[in-house]
Amino acid sequence: MRRRRQRTGRIAAGLRRREFPGGKEFFVKRHEYHDSVLLGETVEALRPAEGGRIVDGTLGGGGHSEALLERGARVIGVDQDAEAIEYARERLAGWGDRFLAVRSNFAEVVPVLMGMGICAVDGVLLDLGVSSRQLDAAGRGFSFRQEGPLDMRMDARGSVTAADLVNEWGASELERIFREYGEEPHARRIAGAVVRARERGVLRTTLELAAVVEGVVPRTGRIHPATRVFQALRMAVNREMEVLENGLVNLMGLLKPGGRMAVITFHSLEDRMVKRYFSRITAETVDRPEWPEARRNPDWAAVRVTRKAVVAGVAETANNPRARSAKLRVVEKRREES
Ligand SMILES: C[S@@+](CC[C@H](N)C(=O)[O-])C[C@H]1O[C@@H](n2cnc3c(N)ncnc32)[C@H](O)[C@@H]1O
Repeated sequence: MRRRRQRTGRIAAGLRRREFPGGKEFFVKRHEYHDSVLLGETVEALRPAEGGRIVDGTLGGGGHSEALLERGARVIGVDQDAEAIEYARERLAGWGDRFLAVRSNFAEVVPVLMGMGICAVDGVLLDLGVSSRQLDAAGRGFSFRQEGPLDMRMDARGSVTAADLVNEWGASELERIFREYGEEPHARRIAGAVVRARERGVLRTTLELAAVVEGVVPRTGRIHPATRVFQALRMAVNREMEVLENGLVNLMGLLKPGGRMAVITFHSLEDRMVKRYFSRITAETVDRPEWPEARRNPDWAAVRVTRKAVVAGVAETANNPRARSAKLRVVEKRREES
């Protein structure tokens, strides 16, 4: 009885129970909004200097920003989600003018910052995807486990929702995003089922769509059959690949020489994009078979800080399943003389 009361108290206090092989129990503090992934590794990699200015392009619940502030940096937190901005502003209010929240897409924030007189920064962080809060809020439509509108916009000012794609896109376009963004092996079958289902009536809710997917892809194992389809739709609604491509280039342009960019991805396509971009800008020379010798790379702009992607350790993945697919890559903007 006493043990049960103790446990209930811990859960109420926001502690998450974890059992490890060997039967030992651990209680870990959860953050109510979002558990920041690779927190220590990211802060170390960004090397925040006293008074140095860092753009956190994916502010979310403000966990990474808070850790950077604690290390002495000034932080500009950027998020396209009004709720994230409001939440983090309140959480980080105690930092006064060392913290500034800006509602914007990170791919478009550079001119906004320039308009505020911020033309160069010492660090940039991107922690991609959605926060736990966004996933858990049924009304945002990101979750196939809870009834909600098929929305999935991170920025409610955006004009396209998941319902628009599901009800208006042709079968081949749907198949393409399910396959490309969702890496869904049954992409064609699901796209066909969606088109047939909407002939019977508009698909409006998350559970309606999840049921259509479950109707053609039976449940196997622990992963819900709609997982990949929901991920693909989220990426398409928020144009995540296009935004990342532009964001990397634009934010690299904002970095001072010697400044660092850290990017955390959760999806193989995103990681590939970051890896390729970082490879392109860190190569001193380029060579082509038709050239007699290698030439200086016109895109050489940075040096590598991480050789391979940094991944979460056993303790972190045990406490936070989302950390399992996280990959952190970091580069440093080249100083002209190097
Ligand atoms: C994974 S969460 C970040 C969590 C945060 N690092 C923390 O410690 O709490 C991602 C956040 O980035 C925001 N986001 C994703 N893509 C964005 C973009 N292109 N521009 C601005 N914000 C974006 C989402 O709205 C979400 O709040």
